[in-house]
Amino acid sequence: MRVAVVGKGGSGKTTTSAILARSLARGGARVVALDCDTNPNLGISLGVGDEETERLVVMREALDEGESEHAPSWDSLIDRFGTDAPDGVRLAVVSRIEDPEPG
Ligand SMILES: Nc1ncnc2c1ncn2[C@@H]1O[C@H](COP(=O)(O)OP(=O)(O)OP(=O)(O)O)[C@@H](O)[C@H]1O
Ligand SMILES: [Mg+2]
Repeated sequence: MRVAVVGKGGSGKTTTSAILARSLARGGARVVALDCDTNPNLGISLGVGDEETERLVVMREALDEGESEHAPSWDSLIDRFGTDAPDGVRLAVVSRIEDPEPG
């Protein structure tokens, strides 16, 4: 199952995403949370803390500025750009998928 959360500024996207992710993970689902927001603070709501959230943001900035290479596969993306959050959620701060495989 893939769930995308979108909406106007300040409408509750981040809060809803974090609650959904943690609730699904507590229920036994394998959850990967991808923060694509221009102001990525899902890490705070998921409970990884300010410092770790900032570390993920800095990694995405390096990618956007061409200082770092895109991950070649999904597994590598989750590994390189991700961090473990409470309740077993894996969080990654991402920009876009380059050359996505079908599906
Ligand atoms: N269901 C809710 N009831 C009351 N307040 C809420 C609810 N969901 C979120 N909020 C509050 O609304 C504010 C905005 O929530 P949130 O940061 O999740 O929105 P957002 O859409 O991610 O915002 P942004 O566009 O800035 O990223 C926060 O202060 C949050 O605590
Ligand atoms: Mg938000």
